[in-house]
Parts: sequence; C-alpha cells; structure tokens
Amino acid sequence: EKGTYPHFMLKEIDEQPLVMRRIIQQYKDESGKLKVDEGVRQAVKAADRLYIIACGTSWHAGLVGKQFLETIAGVPTEVHIASEFSYNMPLLSERPLFVFISQSGETADCRSVLVDVKQLGHPTLTITNSPGSTLSREADHTLLLHAGPEIAVASTKAYTAQIAVLSILSVDVANGKGRTLTFDPLQELAIVANAMEVLCAQKDDYEQIARDYLSETRNAFFIGRAVDYYVVMEAALKLKEISYIQAEGFAGGELKHGTIALIEDGTPVFGLITQEHVAGHLRGNLQEVAARGANTCAIVSHDQARPGDQHVLPEVHPHFSPLASVIPFQLIAYYAALHRGCDVDKPRNLAKSVTVE
Ligand code: F6R
Repeated sequence: EKGTYPHFMLKEIDEQPLVMRRIIQQYKDESGKLKVDEGVRQAVKAADRLYIIACGTSWHAGLVGKQFLETIAGVPTEVHIASEFSYNMPLLSERPLFVFISQSGETADCRSVLVDVKQLGHPTLTITNSPGSTLSREADHTLLLHAGPEIAVASTKAYTAQIAVLSILSVDVANGKGRTLTFDPLQELAIVANAMEVLCAQKDDYEQIARDYLSETRNAFFIGRAVDYYVVMEAALKLKEISYIQAEGFAGGELKHGTIALIEDGTPVFGLITQEHVAGHLRGNLQEVAARGANTCAIVSHDQARPGDQHVLPEVHPHFSPLASVIPFQLIAYYAALHRGCDVDKPRNLAKSVTVE
C-alpha cells in the first residue's frame, strides 16, 4: 500500500535508507561480520570470470557491480545485455560463472540466456528481489535483495539494493582471497543509508531542478565519467521512461565525438562529478556545453565540491557513491514526470516484468 504517498515510486525512493539497513542486517553474522551464502562464495571462488547478464536498470546496476568485482575483489567480470547475449556470445573463459541480475526474476530475456548456459553446463547465480521466481528457482544459487515489493514500473530501490548486494559480494570475495581493504563495507553502507536519508529530505530542491530544467524541454542529456557514467545512464533511463523526455546518458569524453552537435540554447545537461580522477575533465565538458548555450546542472560529491557548486551530495565512500548519487536523479525524474502530467507509476507502453523476448 502506498499509504500517504501519492505514488509508489516516491514511496520506494524514500524506502531506500531502510532497504540499505535491512541488507546490512541480512548480510552479517552474529558477530557482526559480513557473510554471504557459502555456496555462492564457493561458486565465485571457482570461477575465473563472471558474466553478468541483465536488462534495463538491472543492467546498469551490473555495470557498477563489475567495477566492484574488478577493483575490490580482483575478479574479471563482463556485463552483457541479456537480449544481445545469445547472438553476440563472447568467447567464454574456461570456468565462467553466470550472474543474472533481475529484480522480478521473471525477465524472459534473462531466462533465455539462463536456459542456454545451463545446457552448456555452466554454473549460475541469480541476484533477485523475488524468492521463488523463475530465475531464482532455475539457477544454482540465489542472492536476495530484501528490498520489499517494488510496485512502480520505474525501478528505484531495487537498483540501489542490487548495487549494495554486489558490493557485499565483492567484499566477501576479496576477504576470501585475503585482500586488504581500506574500508569497512557494512559501516560504509550504514553511512550511505544516512546520506540517502539526507537526500530524500531535499525533495524540494530536486523538484525545483525539475521545474527549472525539464518542464518545457524536448530532450535532456546526462554526462559522467568512470562509474558516474553508469549512473547517468540510469538517470537518463529513469527520466525517459516516466516523463517521455528524450534523454541520453553518455560518457563525458564522447561529447566531442558527435553528441555535442545536439546542444542548443537551453538544452538541459546534467553532469555528475564524484570521482577525483575524472572530475576536472567532466567540469571541462560542462563548460564546453555551457559555452554553446546548454543549461547545465552539476551534481557533485562532497569531496569534489568547489566553491559555487550548488548541488553537493552528502559524504560517502567513493566506491559507494552510485548509491547516493542516483537519488537526486530518481527524484528529478519523478518530479519532471509529475509536472508534465504523466502517469508516474504506470508509464505508457511499459510493464513491470517483461515476460516476452
Ligand atoms: C527501468 C526498469 C526496467 C527493468 C528491466 C529488467 O526502471 O524497471 O528497465 O530494470 O525490465 O527487469 P528485471 O530487473 O525485473 O529483470
């Protein structure tokens, strides 16, 4: 039930701090140490490469997950769009593990790949919000998101839950390999939960951004680099699916290779800046588009903020920044759709779980 909320989407955005705290509880043992199902741990240990298979928002979470698995755990990881995988199947490694990320656990495109790779005899893991779902029943192993039912078609809390669970899996693998980590993941996730709460309390600011930048526009662009690129792809998807504004999320460095031709007077361009090694370049990109008339809006992490930055995120560990930085974009998309009179929870042409290929 949505209670006092006007839409499930807004309720589910607000539930994200609680979901983070639930995940922390679910993935720790009695002594407070991080724990992941032994079968999953062994399956990842036995693999020489992970193949993440997913669609839409779950695919975007998979891209962030690859970053964790490679940088935190040192496990080579590829991320594939389920519907493309079968006919663009890469050369597989000797000991692959297939990881299906699916909120519903019912997505036909994922199921089709699952059936194929099981036939080839490869081990499989499903990361899902739905215990008992098809993908969970048919895979060898399951990790649950514990996000509670997600009703709005636009996925919000499942995305952040997927990223949180992938971070926990990565840390567990890193621990198993004896890698030294410079952060305590459960503590960092608790900090993330608090940061999410702060962001959810800033709804008026994001409503104002939606009003200022998106109430009239035909299109909008979102740029980022490194992990921020993955988050802005999700930001663009959120906006397009519920507000019907044509939106594109792309890598800041790609602007000059074509897309900058689309920038006109007043074109909204959102930039996400949370990673030190690319912050300067992304600021440069925002200046380039501003010089061509774009209406730019920078959303900046605490540690990258400069005087004059108007939208600064609360402090979280840079590894975990997508969990915080996506929230302004979820809210901006929500309010843009609302102001434009769209059916936020049930956008046209879309279904919550896509059971056709
Ligand atoms: C976007 C959205 C979709 C789903 C996609 C995969 O907000 O909800 O892009 O992420 O259809 O669905 P699941 O995760 O259920 O496999």
